[in-house]
Amino acid sequence: MDQPDVLAWRDGHIEALDQTALPHQVRTLRISTVDQLVRAITSLAIRGAPVLGAAGALGVALAVRQGHAEGWDRPRLDAEIKRIADARPTAVNLSREVAAVSARIGPDAVSIDAVSIDAGAVEAAALAVLDATAAVSHEISERGAAYLTATCGGGPLRIHTHCNTGSLACLGWGTALGVIRALHEGGALRHVIVDETRPLLQGARLTCWELGQLGIEHQLVCDGAAPFLISRGLADAVVVGADRIAANCDVANKIGTYGLALAARQAGIPFVVAAPESTIDQATPSGAAIPLEQRAEEEITVPTAPVGTRALNVAFDVTPAELVSAVVTEARVIPGGR
Ligand code: MRU
Repeated sequence: MDQPDVLAWRDGHIEALDQTALPHQVRTLRISTVDQLVRAITSLAIRGAPVLGAAGALGVALAVRQGHAEGWDRPRLDAEIKRIADARPTAVNLSREVAAVSARIGPDAVSIDAVSIDAGAVEAAALAVLDATAAVSHEISERGAAYLTATCGGGPLRIHTHCNTGSLACLGWGTALGVIRALHEGGALRHVIVDETRPLLQGARLTCWELGQLGIEHQLVCDGAAPFLISRGLADAVVVGADRIAANCDVANKIGTYGLALAARQAGIPFVVAAPESTIDQATPSGAAIPLEQRAEEEITVPTAPVGTRALNVAFDVTPAELVSAVVTEARVIPGGR
């Protein structure tokens, strides 16, 4: 079956696969306003650090178009662009790509008429981010597969992963899931163990969907089972993505990642982070300074807990660099602290 694009720019609009509907419905959102984009990002219809970066880039082009059509002044345009950048705080790719494309607007453009802002140049810059996002994922995938084969032996390997890091999150092949795909293509993969990734189930809904389409053998496990299964020798390596990597190599990723890293250390298997260079944030010295998104309590409590139950729904955790074997990017393998 032909899949629609995960993210695209068509006739001055953003089109995005609605990831809240997967795997049961494959439907595309047509996004024409900043409001619609911010809603798509906060609801996780558009999600995953690299795709958030690309969506932010397109969002700047969308805001310029909407501003022209509605006669916004420059402060309004800047405020709308800031809403996009701030829609989710942890994945640095979002604010980074919004800032990169916004730079094409130019600081001197005080009004937002077609003369003072070159909408074509802004659009071209946004599309370049979209293309680059897909391209780097292939390089990460190949480098990560080569690293794992060299570290763990020729395989076939059993890989434990968390959340969703495939083309839905990254375009192209993905980061951690791209590494898994490259191992599979090279005949070096036995199977994948996928955490369901509570509370929004990106592993169960999205990773199992992508692996099924690729014909890659996999088993779904409860998040709570993961450290124990690793301790029983059911995985040769843990491979995950990242939302922000601090300058000291502390890694923020979907909540539940830290427990996998502890289990991998205890079991003596590699804990590998696959991510683009754009996820490394040199301006953030360590994990303590990474903003961790806290989401609505209802995502955990409804419909299972008694009405009125309070919840702490922190969406990401931080794995200290000392538990990371390596960070694999499109450019290099950065040794972690292990
Ligand atoms: O809340 P999400 O679904 O956007 O979280 C996604 C993750 O945590 C991914 O692991 C991360 O963005 C890396 S994707 C390459």
